[in-house]
Amino acid sequence: MDIKAQIKDKLRKALLDLGIEGLEIELEQPKQLSFGDYTTNAAMKAFATPNLKSKILNLKSPKELAKRIVEIFNSKFVIHDSIVGKVEAVGGFINFHLSANYLGTWLEEVLRDNEKLVNKPKSSSNKIVVEYSSPNIAKPFTIGHLRSTIIGDAVANLLEVTGRKVYRDNHIGDWGSQFGKLTYAIKTWGNEEEIEKAENPVKELVNLYIKFHEEAEKNPKLEDYGREWFKKLEDGDLEARRLWQKCIDWSWMEFNNLYSELNVKFTENNGRGYGESFFEDKMKQVIEELREKDLLKEDQEAFLIYFKNDKLPPLMILKTDGTTLYATRDLATDKFRLEKYGKDIKIINEVGAEQSLYFQQLFELEKMLGWFNAGQRVHVRHGLYRFKDQKMSTRKGNVIWLEDLLNEAEKRALSLSKQDSISISQNARRIGIGALKWNDLKRNSIQDIIFDWEDILNMQGDSGPYMQYTYARTHSVLAKVKSSSNAKATADKEKLKVKSSIQDLKFDELEKEEIHLLRYLYRYSDVVTQAADSLSPNIICNYLFNLAQRFNLFYQKHKVIGSDNEDQRLALVSLTGITIKHGLGILNIEVPEKV
Ligand code: ARG
Repeated sequence: MDIKAQIKDKLRKALLDLGIEGLEIELEQPKQLSFGDYTTNAAMKAFATPNLKSKILNLKSPKELAKRIVEIFNSKFVIHDSIVGKVEAVGGFINFHLSANYLGTWLEEVLRDNEKLVNKPKSSSNKIVVEYSSPNIAKPFTIGHLRSTIIGDAVANLLEVTGRKVYRDNHIGDWGSQFGKLTYAIKTWGNEEEIEKAENPVKELVNLYIKFHEEAEKNPKLEDYGREWFKKLEDGDLEARRLWQKCIDWSWMEFNNLYSELNVKFTENNGRGYGESFFEDKMKQVIEELREKDLLKEDQEAFLIYFKNDKLPPLMILKTDGTTLYATRDLATDKFRLEKYGKDIKIINEVGAEQSLYFQQLFELEKMLGWFNAGQRVHVRHGLYRFKDQKMSTRKGNVIWLEDLLNEAEKRALSLSKQDSISISQNARRIGIGALKWNDLKRNSIQDIIFDWEDILNMQGDSGPYMQYTYARTHSVLAKVKSSSNAKATADKEKLKVKSSIQDLKFDELEKEEIHLLRYLYRYSDVVTQAADSLSPNIICNYLFNLAQRFNLFYQKHKVIGSDNEDQRLALVSLTGITIKHGLGILNIEVPEKV
């Protein structure tokens, strides 16, 4: 039984002594360490539950009840010095302080077997599709796609480390009427050979697309030509298909680069994800199902879905010319997922908040179809990047190219070295990319980000470089021990994990900063669970930043190497490093050994 279950069990027994039965007990980590390692509001809950209250009438307040429970707990289950060092009632809360001895044992165990850092739930039968990135062919990979890539990947990692089976999908926009326009543009103003030779073919395609819209403003007939080409594409016209495939190949050259720089992978469809075009021949079946269930309503030759009481605007499924839409393909995608992964599959789409209404419509329609139960469909959304007042739009052409952004991040990371005299140069790109990722992940994804390089690369603040720097510091302390000729540090001091036994460690004599650091490290596993359950990588960032601050405080105040408590302090340094590395691993941020 894990610690939480043990404490809960004892609480239940203590409550039973007071005649309180059937209360669901929750154990949480209090915000402040001074309130202990776990806390429960069971006393308050018991008071608030009407049929329980009668039994505890002789007690006037949750506070009194909490006190009584603590008394019983203390008299019945004296587990001082084993697990729980102290139980106390604070207001209506009951707080549990784990004993230093127990925490020391835990530390030793985790150092011996790093797998124990994070508790995995027993059942790992949860299957989840996480769909992220989803850029469009022949269009720029935007900052929005970057956010989706970074956040979606972190969410998928979180779910994976907590034992779920994750399918990583990429819903590439490789189908739709824009290909008709583009084909017309390539054939009219473009030159395939030149596009092929260009440094970035996608840029050429975007320029052609922009030109199409400029010309179409003058001559609306162009829109018809575009539609005709898309119809040809849908009908399998060879020339239309050939050009379309070219666009896909050119775009993937860019995507592959970006994904490899970001170290992001997908598992579905041989690592490419199921793009929209994959569902081309699967839409008919869905349209039929919509018809059968009498959901499709005709309106001036187009077909739409209307929602009950107009609670959402209607959603178009077929255009007047009979062609399909983004929504039609999303329906076919989810139907396919149901068939492929099973009807219990949970599906997460990481897509910008600007598509919130659309996803509400989609989810509502999928409910009307009877495909999913509540909670099976989730839209994880992200806010915008705000750069002063530039707005990004493919049509107008004021686009920020991602590659330029990564280059800028690298350049700026390089300039850090001058300020902080650390040898950052070999790592500049990794640090730059890590900084961008951290900046994306450190706050609730739905918030907009005001893009600020100072903030992103702040060596003193809540930033990627600060975390990497703190990790490197733990690493260098341990490396020093390894290379030192100090008699104590013989052989492989890395093995200190194994060497130090509980008896050696004097954890009850820990200094304040040490015990705080240790107790904070102990929280990590629960933090990961919480972050995974709420699909919030920012919870990990928050934790890691606090951990780094605690560690740096400890390190400033206490001598590690050569101190009387060298072994236990090294153990703390070691576990701090392991925890930061694990956490940054979830966020897919590299940990350089030197910064
Ligand atoms: N390609 C779309 C875009 O760039 C995002 C796709 C999101 N996923 C989905 N299943 N609709 O806006």
